[in-house]
Formats: sequence, structure tokens, C-alpha cells
Amino acid sequence: MQSYFKVEGGNKLTGSIEINGAKNSILALLIASSMTNQVVTIEDVQNIKDVRSLIKKIKKLNSTIIINDNSFRKTIILDNKNLKYRDLFMDEISEFRASYYFIGAMIGRYKKCNLLLPGGCFLGPRPIDLHLKGFEELGCTIIEKEENGKTKLFIDTKDGLHGSDIFLDFPSVGATINIMLAATLAEGTTTIENAAKEPEIIDVATMLTSMGAIIKGAGTNVITISGVKKLNGCFHQTIPDRIEAGTYIMYGAVLGENLIINNIIPEHLEGLISKLTKMGVNLKIGDDYIKIINRKKEFKGVPITTGVYPSFPTDLQQVYVTLLTQCYGTTNVTETIFPDRFRHCEYLNEMGANIKVNSGEYLSKATVDGFSNLVGKDVMATDLRAGAALIFAGLIADGTTTIKNINHVLRGYDNIVEKLTLVGAKIELCEGE
Ligand code: EPZ
Repeated sequence: MQSYFKVEGGNKLTGSIEINGAKNSILALLIASSMTNQVVTIEDVQNIKDVRSLIKKIKKLNSTIIINDNSFRKTIILDNKNLKYRDLFMDEISEFRASYYFIGAMIGRYKKCNLLLPGGCFLGPRPIDLHLKGFEELGCTIIEKEENGKTKLFIDTKDGLHGSDIFLDFPSVGATINIMLAATLAEGTTTIENAAKEPEIIDVATMLTSMGAIIKGAGTNVITISGVKKLNGCFHQTIPDRIEAGTYIMYGAVLGENLIINNIIPEHLEGLISKLTKMGVNLKIGDDYIKIINRKKEFKGVPITTGVYPSFPTDLQQVYVTLLTQCYGTTNVTETIFPDRFRHCEYLNEMGANIKVNSGEYLSKATVDGFSNLVGKDVMATDLRAGAALIFAGLIADGTTTIKNINHVLRGYDNIVEKLTLVGAKIELCEGE
């Protein structure tokens, strides 16, 4: 039996949507908690598939995990006093991209880590060469072994983990966080130059600092970490998920009637807000919310090029393309981070959009015609954010849209059916062939 979403189009969205903790912080925060033998409490954790799957993995290290589940906001308490090192050769490690954070955490705490190489995902190969290069500069020896078509990594620090000056060839979010994890327990000082500046980097650095780490410059392109002997327990409140927030703000731009997106940090969404304002979207920006009044006039398509923070985020590009189908004019979208992020456009075109995609190895472009009348169809999510883009198209389209492969969506949008239904959308999670 395969679950799918069924969406009836044409309904206004009115009321308030609560945003939860940032998925792309939480995955690192949960693993970072394994770096101490004390209790770590993380508040406002989304109850999404990726988090549930990661909790199962951390439990295999003998961490005791309690989840306090009160409606939308969940608190996770991880008691790591019985934590034990173990090799991570389970298949589910290579299937879960963010498993790479176990490397930084375990070489930090145990000075070694043997695991299955975390795989790519639906966005392409997604190597971790920048992570591994950083670990080597911290004193790690890394041996790769192919066994039954799988790559095992054997990472050791016989001569100890020591600080180093590391320059990232690309400001990779994962590599920045991963090297920062390991460096907190290395001997001496580490600098990470050309570091990623995403808000999630700051969030992880904030929790590590509460645990006793000494980190300066998180959020800038140079981060300095002075190694300490051990890390302690802490309480951490996760930052709101800017991608979840941006997704619902764009839904509201077309369908909102006094729709409030609550519990956000507007500064984290400047890349999106500037484009929506230029488009003519009627936004009211509060301290921790954004209100979409209503759609007074037709929007002008505004071109975007995705890039590293604070540029327009790649994770919001796909939902933005659906928004462009409802603007006037033909608009260009350039994807510079994950060139494979236009694969769902064929389904949007089946629904009545007119999007031409020009895919490259390092950069892809889409040309989106506006004023498309979308009609409900049977479509399939090709990745997490593509699923959100197809739900958006279904909410706009005439008639019924069914969306398969929704496991992608459930990885990153907590309670999406409940949150949208609460504001008037007709969307349900169905079981069927
Ligand atoms: C994080 O992925 C996010 N995932 C992604 O969110 C997000 O799209 C991405 O950052 C960019 O913001 C998590 O945080 C779990 P990168 P990450 O390392 O760390 C290349 C979502 O939808 N690269 O910044 O993997 C890589 O191939 C997901 O929530 C190397 O070449 O992103 C990509 O082209 C999707 N070698 C580019 O850098 C490396 O060692 C950006 O990757 C690492 C990355």
C-alpha cells in the first residue's frame, strides 16, 4: 500500500500556521548531543520522518531518549551517560544523508569513526569530500574499503585530533557543521575559512557553546574553534525552520486571505522576502510572524538565482517555480547548488504549466511562463521540496491532484496536512495502490 496526498484546489488559506524547529539544525543537534555523557534537552523538534529515523540510530549508541510531545512543539531529552562507541555499518546509515554528522561527533568524542559512506539522495551524488578533507587536516587518517558494493570508511586519529587552519573550497553547510563538531574537542585552535553562513550553522554553534565549546564567528565566513577537553549537557531551543516558513508564505502569496505564518525569524528569509515584495505580494512583517493580507493585484514574475546564504535558498526554489506559474511574464530561474532540482517540472507541465528546463552538470535553468491555468493530475514527488511545490500546484489547480512518493515530503514538513487543513485547504493523506 502506498500513501499519497489528495488535494482539492481553489480554496483560500485563512488563519495561522505555526512553524516548528529547523529540520536542518535538528539533524545536526541530535547527533551533536552524543558528544557528551550528560543530558541534552532540545526544544521544538519537528516530528518528521528524518528525526524519527535519526533517533533510532542514536538509540543504537545506547542513548536514552525521552520525547515530550505536547501538540505542535516537541521536546527531546537525550541522556547519554551510557553512550558507547560502535561502528555504524548499518544500511540505514548510508541511506540517510545527514549520517555524515556522526563522523564529526564521534571523532570528536571517541577519536575514531567507522561507518558506511552516507549516500547521495534524489538531488544527485552529493559527495562529502570537503568533510573528509577537513577531518584529514584535523589529524584523521581515512581508509575507504569497498565491500559488496558499499563503501566503508575507517577513520582514526592515532596521533590525536589537533586544531588546523582549514579552507573550504565551497561554503558547504554540512562540511562547516561537521568540521566544527570535531574541532570542539580537538587539541588547539581550528579556523574554518570560507565557512557556510546559514542560520543553522549559528544554531548548532549556539548549542555547542552551551555545552562548553569555545566558538567564535559562526554565521560569518571565518569560524574559530578553541578545543576543550569535554562537553557538558545543556538545554537548547531550536531556531524556526526558515524553509518550512518560506514554503507556507509562498502558498499564502497566491491563496492567502489574512494568513499568518507564526514563529519565524524574518531576517532568515530576506532572500525570499525581497523577491516577493518586488513581485507585489502584500506582506506585513512582524517581529516573529509574517501576515499575507490578500492578493490585491497580479504579480510580476521576478527572476532568481539560488546561492549560499543569504542568497535565495535552493530549498525554496522549487516552490517558487510554482509561484511563478501564477505571475505574469516569462521568468528565469537559475539553480546553482543542486542542478537536479527541476525534475518535478514535467509534472507541473502535465498540470498545465509551461516550464522549459535546461539542465547542466553544475548549473540548471528553468524558463517559467506565467498565467498558467493549472488542472489537477496524478503526479509524483521527486524530492522533499519538489513535493511541497506539487502540493502548492494542487492547492491552486482546478479539480483534484494526487501526489505519490510523499515519503519525501513527510521527511521535512511536520503535520503538513493538519497545518494546511487548519487554514482551509482541502488536503488529505490517503492509503491506496
Ligand atoms: C544542506 O545539505 C541541507 N541539508 C540541504 O537541505 C540544503 O539544500 C543544503 O545544505 C544547501 O543549503 C541538511 O542540512 C541536512 P552542502 P548539504 O554541503 O550540507 C556540494 C533540504 O531540502 N558538496 O552545502 O549536503 C554538494 O554536492 C535539504 O532540506 C561537495 O561537492 O549541502 C552541493 O552541490 C536538501 N562536497 C553543494 O556542495 C562536499 O563535501 C552544497 O552542499 C559537500 C558538498
